[in-house]
Amino acid sequence: MKIRKDKPGRNDPCPCGSGRKYKHCCYGSPERAVEDLKTRYARKYNIRLKAAKDIEGIRRAGRLTVETLDMVEARLRIGMTTDEINALVHEFTIRNGAVPAPLNYRGFPKSVCVSLNEEICHGIPDGRVIAEGDIVNVDVTPILDGYYADANKTFFMGSPGPDARKIVDVARECLRLGMDMVKPGNTTGDIGWAIQRYAETNQCSVVREFVGHGVGFDFHEAPQILHYGRKGDGVPLVPGMVFTIEPMINLGKRHLRILENQWTAVTVDGSLSAQFEQTILVTEGGYESLTPYDL
Ligand code: MF3
Ligand code: CO
Ligand code: CO
Repeated sequence: MKIRKDKPGRNDPCPCGSGRKYKHCCYGSPERAVEDLKTRYARKYNIRLKAAKDIEGIRRAGRLTVETLDMVEARLRIGMTTDEINALVHEFTIRNGAVPAPLNYRGFPKSVCVSLNEEICHGIPDGRVIAEGDIVNVDVTPILDGYYADANKTFFMGSPGPDARKIVDVARECLRLGMDMVKPGNTTGDIGWAIQRYAETNQCSVVREFVGHGVGFDFHEAPQILHYGRKGDGVPLVPGMVFTIEPMINLGKRHLRILENQWTAVTVDGSLSAQFEQTILVTEGGYESLTPYDL
């Protein structure tokens, strides 16, 4: 007869996913173990695990991020300029007691990134007019009470053609599948693996030069979240990690170039590119999106 085991043994791997033995981790003293994990992740990976009060702060910033995206979606019109989107985001952010993180970040001149069609990311709002059939990515990052949350969505203008429909659907599903990999015991590499497999199975490509990132205390923290790669690579996920997943998916080849403005990445082959991003917290049981919207 098999011994039924609903509790881990002292020598089993700790259920918190730390990769250490239970007796050296959460056994007996979960509080000390969590403190210990914090120190270990800081030293080994430069990852700053978030405490309950930090998570509440990022969750509040995340709520504002999603409200900002909803507000933009409701006001987006054919004929609008990308500068008008910038003004909407800037004013909404300030009115809600926050600061737009992109503004003056490493010299970025505006309060939001708006990337159209073959633009992959870091589009700078200007006088360009949004046209019927465009796909428009809006990437929003407020700082609220010192906490950052980062999310983006790609919108259709008018009725999308088959190419626009396809790339937006694939990019959205890539984020969903990436999020599904998030739980203690899995690694950052598992996220990238799931995304790359889906994108390439659907004859699309994954941008490599830009990655997801730790977020919360700062705009971009460790670790990097690659949107491609091998299962089991990277950092083991543990509760308290907060990072973005933000796959940039191209309809053609993955290669990019940067425009003269030194910021905007576009596909070399001119193919459409789409992206979805959320800020994700690793929990004991899996994950919680701190910028939740339906995918
Ligand atoms: N929001 C982007 C990201 O997802 C970063 C934009 S940096 C900026 O990481 F300066 F362009 F705003
Ligand atoms: Co990001
Ligand atoms: Co972003």
